[in-house]
Amino acid sequence: MTATKTVPLTDRAAWKGLAANAEQIRGKHMRELFQSDPGRGERLTLEAEGLFLDYSKNRVTDETLKLLIALAEESGLKARTEAMFTGEKINITENRAVLHTALRAPKDATIVVDGENVVPAVHEVLDKMAGFADKIRSGEWKGHTGKRIKNVVNIGIGGSDLGPVMAYEALKHYSQRDLTFRFVSNVDGTDFAEAVVDLDPEETLFLVASKTFTTQETMTNAHTARDWSLAKLGDEKAVAKHFVAISTNAKEVAKFGIDTANMFGFWDWVGGRYSMDSAIGLSTMIAIGPKNFGEMLAGFHAMDVHFRTAPIEKNMPALLGLLTVWYTEFFDAQTQAVLPYEQYLKRFPAYLQQLTMESNGKHVTLDGATVNYQTGAIYWGEPGTNGQHSFYQLIHQGTRLIPCDFIAFIKSLNPLGRHHDMLLANVFAQAEALAFGKTAEQVKAEGTPDWLVPHRVFEGNRPSNVILVDELTPAVLGKLVALYEHAVFTQGVVWDIDSFDQWGVELGKVLATKILGELESKDEPKLAHDSSTTNLINRYRSGK
Ligand code: F6P
Repeated sequence: MTATKTVPLTDRAAWKGLAANAEQIRGKHMRELFQSDPGRGERLTLEAEGLFLDYSKNRVTDETLKLLIALAEESGLKARTEAMFTGEKINITENRAVLHTALRAPKDATIVVDGENVVPAVHEVLDKMAGFADKIRSGEWKGHTGKRIKNVVNIGIGGSDLGPVMAYEALKHYSQRDLTFRFVSNVDGTDFAEAVVDLDPEETLFLVASKTFTTQETMTNAHTARDWSLAKLGDEKAVAKHFVAISTNAKEVAKFGIDTANMFGFWDWVGGRYSMDSAIGLSTMIAIGPKNFGEMLAGFHAMDVHFRTAPIEKNMPALLGLLTVWYTEFFDAQTQAVLPYEQYLKRFPAYLQQLTMESNGKHVTLDGATVNYQTGAIYWGEPGTNGQHSFYQLIHQGTRLIPCDFIAFIKSLNPLGRHHDMLLANVFAQAEALAFGKTAEQVKAEGTPDWLVPHRVFEGNRPSNVILVDELTPAVLGKLVALYEHAVFTQGVVWDIDSFDQWGVELGKVLATKILGELESKDEPKLAHDSSTTNLINRYRSGK
């Protein structure tokens, strides 16, 4: 697929309508919106696949929502969605299909890429992963010296790490507790050293996860892991029992010395940041078992079907994506906070950072024209209630507008006394405080001295979504991840950018390779950098 000319975003009728609408909304407080429309809190909600979204506490009117939906229509959201789901090469700069949705398609689905139905191959890999995961879980797979594998260490970075760590943490409740899982990503030797400090190589399996199998950090860590293993196990043959590869690059896997029989494959139409449900999820499957993994995939698929089929006004990912566009473009919002009130989701914001920012941090349209609007919001967050005692002050009383997504569950996986009621009371309270605040009159009426009143006023009018779900299960995790994947897609369609490439990571990689040679050179290197970089290199060389 090549870029098709679309009407520039800022020339679209709905954009102009939204710009005018924003001027009206700017002067309106959410207090007014709620007072004049008592049904708002029930009306501006949506239920999809067991996820309940309350989006009533946003700075929007029915007119805004209508215009946002029109903007999605004018941007061709439905056609672009079909193009993605049917394997068109919508990642135009890499000439690739974008088919993470095929990874969770049921066995009998047909999705054709380059004349071939990819679904059977997806299920073949899933079956192979299940066979392997069962052998590790049952203890049937033995290490080189005959000991049972007790530790699984995933080595990968970016999409080959963030998804696996996040899913492991999110689904720990469902994991096999006599297995230890560790994740090594950073090229900083401390990451590896600390991950294995208390592990026995005889009982340790490494999953080397890398789509390309050329990523410097991962390959360095994988070689270090090999040395660490062989230092105790002695024999090269041990690699076959202690290393498996997850990659699209069989040639490089073989070069590393891993038998390709111990390789779990995927395809170039799976982006790194969209790969946690491919073979990259092997650590997740070993942790929670093939059945739970299957349920997670079914959750992803359910949200895929919802996104593909629901009309935009009832489409949860589309609405979430459009609301972020609204604040980014018309309210100067630069960031989007994601605040899970669920300890198991502690790595979810970190996972979303790559998904959202590597996808939509782009400055040119599909045609290569420089955009004259903002793209890619900065996603960040921490689990509640911890964030409340740290950065919420700025969200409540600072000068920036920070839309928040609160994620909470009705049932706790660890019900303990009053903990869960307290946790949920806090989510609801935060969303309420952000929206409605506290006026100077209210503060005064509490007996606050005049000079202190301004400090204690909460302006309110700060937007948030609340996503409320029954309980965190593997299927729900799949739905939540797919929800954000498709919200990001929706934003990318409106912004008319390629959400599936990542050229912005290249320059730093190239320069680092060059500088590495200069840092390691025995002879005084001839440096041809700017004065700052040269000075830093020299300082390091003389100090190391
Ligand atoms: O540098 C960015 C990136 O290419 C990500 O997109 C990707 O998830 C990560 O590196 C790791 O890549 P690989 O799985 O090929 O090692």
